[in-house]
Amino acid sequence: MANILGGITTSHVPAIGGAIAKGLQQQPYWKPFFDGYGPVQQWLGEVKPDVAVIFYNDHGLNFFLDKMPTFAVGAAPEYRNADEGWGIPTLPPFRGELDLSWHLIEHLVARDFDITTCQEMLVDHAITLPLKLFWPEGTCPVTIVPVCINTVQHPLPSARRCYALGQAVGEAIRSWDSDRRVVVVGTGGLSHQLDGPRAGFINKPFDLKFMDSMVNEPEWATQFSVHELVEKTGTQGIELLMWIAARGALSGPVRKVHSNYHIPISNTAAGLLALEAV
Ligand code: DHB
Ligand code: FE
Repeated sequence: MANILGGITTSHVPAIGGAIAKGLQQQPYWKPFFDGYGPVQQWLGEVKPDVAVIFYNDHGLNFFLDKMPTFAVGAAPEYRNADEGWGIPTLPPFRGELDLSWHLIEHLVARDFDITTCQEMLVDHAITLPLKLFWPEGTCPVTIVPVCINTVQHPLPSARRCYALGQAVGEAIRSWDSDRRVVVVGTGGLSHQLDGPRAGFINKPFDLKFMDSMVNEPEWATQFSVHELVEKTGTQGIELLMWIAARGALSGPVRKVHSNYHIPISNTAAGLLALEAV
């Protein structure tokens, strides 16, 4: 049966792609952010995953307001980057892990999650940038299964529901008849608001408490409703649902490998957390 090595949760901001493309990693604005990823790259080099299951939110690229699944799972042989610009100019497609995609889909439907299955799926900065931050050199070494959670059009799924989705995804991975080594990823957050009167809103005390809870109190954030989370973290800060889902997939205790928190990257409080399953 497949083994979950751990989970990595990280923010994603399109400007990171521009900084990578222009080689700005050592500039004062970017250095505290990019330096955070060194220990994670090192850990990945040690544990050597084969597959990444990635909880992410699409930003109106693959799904738009006319058709908006609450939860969608990729079952495509490859996933092409089609982000809206100012990112990494060219990226080869990411390779899918079809066998795990269908195993996951079967397991989730059997567990009463009414998901949308996507045999074609374009991916945006929420997938492309974390993978480049984890593996900066060459092509991405892991195959992927994207699991998309709606954070664009309300009503959004609750934190409790996202945690339960993560738990079911974790069960599915652990029951996958494969010796492949799997890492779980969650991309989004932390606090940020891009529009409206609170544009630029960041909540450092909440973010730090939330990151702390991810280690030993994984259900702490599920006490809050979506509207409470938007109030605490901003309209786009609700992307932290991806962290909650990824944590749900890690059953049992975890060891914190590394964390980083830096304000701001563009309009976002940039968080990073790597947890090893113990
Ligand atoms: C920004 C943050 C995001 O999460 C995103 O998807 C787009 C932009 C930002 O801070 O600029
Ligand atoms: Fe985003």
